[in-house]
Amino acid sequence: TKPTTWSDRFESALHPAIAVFNASIGFDIQLIEYDLTGSIAHAKMLAHTGIITNVEAQQLVAGLEQIRQEYRAGKFQPGIEQEDVHFAVERRLTEIVGDVGKKLHTARSRNDQVGTDIRLYLRAEIEQIRKQLQSFQSILLQKAEHNLETLIPGYTHLQRAQPLSLAHHLMAYVQMAQRDWERLGDVLKRTNISPLGCGALAGTTFPIDRHYSASLLNFDGVYENSLDGVSDRDFAIEFLCAASLIMVHLSRLSEEIILWASEEFGFITLKDNCSTGSSIMPQKKNPDVPELIRGKTGRVFGHLQGLLVIMKGLPLAYNKDLQEDKEAIFDGVTTVKACLEAMTILLAEGLEFRTPRLAAAVAEDFSNATDVADYLAAKGVPFREAYNLVGKAVKTSLAVGKLLKDLTLAEWQQLHPAFEADIYDAIAPKQVVAARNSYGGTGFQQVSQAIVTAKSRLQNN
Ligand code: ARG
Repeated sequence: TKPTTWSDRFESALHPAIAVFNASIGFDIQLIEYDLTGSIAHAKMLAHTGIITNVEAQQLVAGLEQIRQEYRAGKFQPGIEQEDVHFAVERRLTEIVGDVGKKLHTARSRNDQVGTDIRLYLRAEIEQIRKQLQSFQSILLQKAEHNLETLIPGYTHLQRAQPLSLAHHLMAYVQMAQRDWERLGDVLKRTNISPLGCGALAGTTFPIDRHYSASLLNFDGVYENSLDGVSDRDFAIEFLCAASLIMVHLSRLSEEIILWASEEFGFITLKDNCSTGSSIMPQKKNPDVPELIRGKTGRVFGHLQGLLVIMKGLPLAYNKDLQEDKEAIFDGVTTVKACLEAMTILLAEGLEFRTPRLAAAVAEDFSNATDVADYLAAKGVPFREAYNLVGKAVKTSLAVGKLLKDLTLAEWQQLHPAFEADIYDAIAPKQVVAARNSYGGTGFQQVSQAIVTAKSRLQNN
């Protein structure tokens, strides 16, 4: 037997440590199903164009399908000596079908082959992640529907600002997830292009039909330039960018959940099914799930940066550096999927909002101060003047340990004669929220409309 994978130009095998260093089989075995599917389309194209016979193509396809069955049954486990999944499949195929197996690689290179595999892989994963984004949205929507009139303090600078409908707060994340879903749809367009038939870099001397194999694989089109086709990883970078934004959104929500679960906020209770204890402090209940999501965000950002750096110095066309794309893509996919799943479970069954605490929180602060200023402004007092007057009221109230709702009508009128008895209704938390009925605001009417819109969008997507 030949000492090496390579042509007879080579006389001796790789140094064992270099063989290990060079091999990608340890991780690219994940691509095997896509590699088989891509090879089947290639074999069919070779027969379609008369480059091989129909009988030969049938033998190749049957052999490739047998490998699929063997792999699924756990009986095909190629080792490091195979270098990568592409060689492993080709060798096994030749064992199964004999010499005809050696025809499969006609008019093809591992460069267009691996490009085809990762696009098929990523296409399938993007579709799954988009489904997960929809489940995440529907849990948020359910919670929003149940909490339209639950109030929660709203913050800017993490200081109490204006009270909100809890539904409005949750719906903000529905919007982010919607953009994430759309963004992935856009990435899909540029992922679903076939490089198959670009060959090593320059195309091929055989009369292949790239559009035929592309349509067998449900690609939307083919790369127009063979050099670009084998060396483009823009789609993978775009994917990691979209994945990073998903992680940004999950991480912000995680941070809020962690804060809300603290004694200081006390807005939610974490259930036992999604929290952990301490090995020493018996009283502890820790928010490990959102903490892990927040932590894993760094991995995905890292993969994005890693792939950008891999690409920036590569001369055309294929370079082995590109083998390093796979672990970044795989781990990016795995991490985003795991985090979306965990967050969806956490929201669905791992936490409860403490509505009495929330109601008390919004009733016991100065987050209705803007509404007092708005009240005066609506009566004709210039807003800036009203703003200063209310600032004074806040200062004096703070000094005597009162809230705005505790001021007597006489005290209000002393501040400005325009105050009437309806000021108390105007600054009650529920009214404060209801009144912000501008488009996209937290007013209950706006939020229930936003929920209806989001629900129907989700059903039609
Ligand atoms: N394992 C390789 C990769 O992942 C496959 C392509 C190898 N091509 C080559 N010319 N060495 O990129």
